[in-house]
Amino acid sequence: MSLTSFQAARLAKRLEGKVALITGGASGIGASTAKLFAKNGAKVVIADIQDDLGSSICKEVENIKYIHCDVTQENDVKHAVDTTMSDYGQLDVMFNNAGVPAPRSALQILTSDIQDFKKVFDVNVCGGFLGAKHAARVMIPVKKGSIIFTSSGVSVTTGDAPHSYTASKHAVVGLAKNLCTELGQYGIRVNCISPYLVATPMLTNAMGIDETKVEEIMSEAANLKGMVVKTEDIAEAAVFLGSDASRYISGINLVIDGGYSITTPALKMAMKAHFGDH
Ligand SMILES: NC(=O)c1ccc[n+]([C@@H]2O[C@H](COP(=O)([O-])OP(=O)(O)OC[C@H]3O[C@@H](n4cnc5c(N)ncnc54)[C@H](O)[C@@H]3O)[C@@H](O)[C@H]2O)c1
Repeated sequence: MSLTSFQAARLAKRLEGKVALITGGASGIGASTAKLFAKNGAKVVIADIQDDLGSSICKEVENIKYIHCDVTQENDVKHAVDTTMSDYGQLDVMFNNAGVPAPRSALQILTSDIQDFKKVFDVNVCGGFLGAKHAARVMIPVKKGSIIFTSSGVSVTTGDAPHSYTASKHAVVGLAKNLCTELGQYGIRVNCISPYLVATPMLTNAMGIDETKVEEIMSEAANLKGMVVKTEDIAEAAVFLGSDASRYISGINLVIDGGYSITTPALKMAMKAHFGDH
């Protein structure tokens, strides 16, 4: 039986010969992406602060290395990039994915705390800034590379998450777009991925409920029914943006939310409350 060209493209190793550094790669979206990158032929370095988890992924999957790196510390980020370069001689994809949630108190401005606000920005925005800076340092001389950020669906919606988290994810998109305009002259692409809610440890811990319950709530709110978004769906987008299949794509914020952010259900819900389904 012969393969369709679509099937063949899916089976081909889309990142053969590439080297990727993935921050926040020990868990959730980053861990799924590291595994899918390796499956697609990439050499992967996970940079995270969860040493046990990160190291266990390396034992489980070939071609993945782990390095301790707190993305808020410039020396750690510099070291992660330099180690990747000395181990593999190149850095093709920098995935600035590490992130932290905000406390529920930050849902209201009057109970929001400035220290929490700064902490969220430190990891989500400054961490990505440092990743991009040190990746660009080694990508500019070779005039190629793909820098990807994990932003969030809340970069295009408002009111769904705490103020600090929402603001940080908007900032990530702004940073990525500004970098896109600077780095285009060197052939470096810069893009964002913005996922809908995905039941990772970050989300289950922040919501204080288990994966099944998280998925139940997010499915109820979702626009696209009949499936639940998984970390692998986000990883697929990262593979696309890291691969040459997206070689002319730069400056986009790829929203992976099944259309959630363009739906406005309030009127439909009010009508339903008054008139029922008909
Ligand atoms: N899960 C969701 O619903 C969702 C939705 C939209 C965006 N995101 C974003 O996706 C990214 C990945 O989150 P996830 O959902 O996979 O959560 P996760 O908690 O499973 O993974 C986040 C990883 O980042 C690491 N990390 C945190 N602070 C770090 C630091 N200072 N230095 C290095 N690593 C650090 C953690 O150790 C963890 O391994 C985050 O940027 C998050 O904001 C998640």
